[in-house]
Amino acid sequence: MSSQRFIGFTITMLICFANYTVLVRVCKNNLDYYIIGDKECYDNPDTNLNVTEILRYRWNCTAEEYNITTDDGYQILVIRAYQNISNPIPIILGHGIIMNTLGFLSLYTHSLAYHIIKSGRQIFFVNYRGTRYSLGHTGNITEHDYDYWKFSFHEMAIYDTPKILELVKNMTNRKSIMISYSLSSTATLAYATLYPEDTSSKLIGIITMGTAVFFQNSTSSLKFFAKISSTLAFGLKLIYNGKLFPRDEMMPVLKFAAQGPLQYLTLMAGFSAIVGTDPASIAPEYFPVVVINTPDCLGQNVALHYAQVFNTGKFRQFDYGSAENTVKYGAAEPPEYDLSKISVPVAQILGKGDILTTVEDALTVASQLNSKINCGVTVLKYEKWTHDDFVDSKFQEKYLVPEVLKHIESMESGRC
Ligand SMILES: *[C@@H]1O[C@H](CO)[C@@H](O)[C@H](O)[C@H]1NC(C)=O
Ligand SMILES: *[C@@H]1O[C@H](CO)[C@@H](O)[C@H](O)[C@H]1NC(C)=O
Ligand SMILES: *[C@@H]1O[C@H](CO)[C@@H](O)[C@H](O)[C@H]1NC(C)=O
Ligand SMILES: *[C@@H]1O[C@H](CO)[C@@H](O)[C@H](O)[C@H]1NC(C)=O
Ligand SMILES: *[C@@H]1O[C@H](CO)[C@@H](O)[C@H](O)[C@H]1NC(C)=O
Ligand SMILES: *[C@@H]1O[C@H](CO)[C@@H](O)[C@H](O)[C@H]1NC(C)=O
Ligand SMILES: *[C@@H]1O[C@H](CO)[C@@H](O)[C@H](O)[C@H]1NC(C)=O
Repeated sequence: MSSQRFIGFTITMLICFANYTVLVRVCKNNLDYYIIGDKECYDNPDTNLNVTEILRYRWNCTAEEYNITTDDGYQILVIRAYQNISNPIPIILGHGIIMNTLGFLSLYTHSLAYHIIKSGRQIFFVNYRGTRYSLGHTGNITEHDYDYWKFSFHEMAIYDTPKILELVKNMTNRKSIMISYSLSSTATLAYATLYPEDTSSKLIGIITMGTAVFFQNSTSSLKFFAKISSTLAFGLKLIYNGKLFPRDEMMPVLKFAAQGPLQYLTLMAGFSAIVGTDPASIAPEYFPVVVINTPDCLGQNVALHYAQVFNTGKFRQFDYGSAENTVKYGAAEPPEYDLSKISVPVAQILGKGDILTTVEDALTVASQLNSKINCGVTVLKYEKWTHDDFVDSKFQEKYLVPEVLKHIESMESGRC
């Protein structure tokens, strides 16, 4: 065992001694969590089901799995889910960092995705490389090799995205509408700047939720971590070998937070400094599912690439250092993603309480788009809407669902 594996192993042994079959007890109201034997509580099966099983057995959808291989050998899982399709234009839903498709399914029938399916549409759920269902590789590398994790959001943009769009086009013979949350907005917009023709042939438009392109106005604590990222990266590589926040190692903490709203708030206190604070949005009956099912690991270079965007204020390709940049890019500095090249309508949805991806930074994105395809920035009419509220807020049905459906309908009818 090499020394780095040994350190990783030791840390695992120190913090991870629980078993991982999780069936969480959920309660209708916050107080019920602290009353033993409360009749308003029950075991929610969602934490024991995989993504396809939830779609099939809990949402009563037809769900099909497509395990596709990117041109650089990563095997990623796309899931198609639908009930009765009355509007055949496919919707593609892309997730954020430290999550996968499961994170969109936590609120049962109150989830945004459920409402999109109920509206008579089909969703293709994306799982980007390096997440729980997309860890395969056709080559000689596995998730346990540092080489596996040598990708940033750039590879999600140039390899994962076009392959997913090709699959959807193949399956449906139609152009899609891409709904991209956070990381997915980064990857999708980067792809759209690099391949405008391919984009126009596959997409009707892009709807972003929490546009993660510029962070100049972000007051997130990630700003601080970005500054010390190269130092952090050195230590984290030794411990985790490229795969940050492995799910198994986080599980004891997540299980603690699933026990009750006070425990959950304790965990969220740290998270709030990254994404914003909105305790009122916690869904009493579903937060244990959110906290057990949502978190996934993060590739170290994805984090580093974001740190570079934070530190430079530039939306550009990965900075390998001037020597390697010169070999790779023919210039000492990495090339920027030129937002003015995007060829399809882009509508952005933002939250006022989101301190990570802010309304001001979304306006900067909008100002750089070709005005013909700029569909503007919609600010949700809920003052404290945070970055994570896009996936876990109990107010999704009231504020987010109508806006998303409105944008989908608008793009379907050829408008912005
Ligand atoms: C989920 O479980 C079912 C069996 O119930 C299996 O067929 C399917 O491949 C699993 N999907 C994933 C993504 O693990
Ligand atoms: C799915 O079908 C089962 C069995 O018919 C039913 O009990 C359940 O309420 C349905 N779920 C939803 C979300 O419609
Ligand atoms: C779908 O349509 C069929 C036939 O029209 C109907 O029997 C079924 O209940 C519908 N399913 C849903 C989930 O709406
Ligand atoms: C996808 O296919 C590869 C190769 O057959 C396999 O290793 C991997 O587990 C599959 N992934 C899923 C989610 O089915
Ligand atoms: C995989 O194969 C390549 C080329 O044969 C080699 O350079 C690399 O070291 C191998 N990686 C691992 C993790 O074995
Ligand atoms: C799409 O269809 C083409 C032509 O049949 C095929 O070559 C390609 O592999 C398919 N791509 C995907 C991602 O299914
Ligand atoms: C956003 O950031 C820019 C660049 O740092 C700055 O000029 C501007 O004043 C900031 N706006 C707000 C509202 O913070």
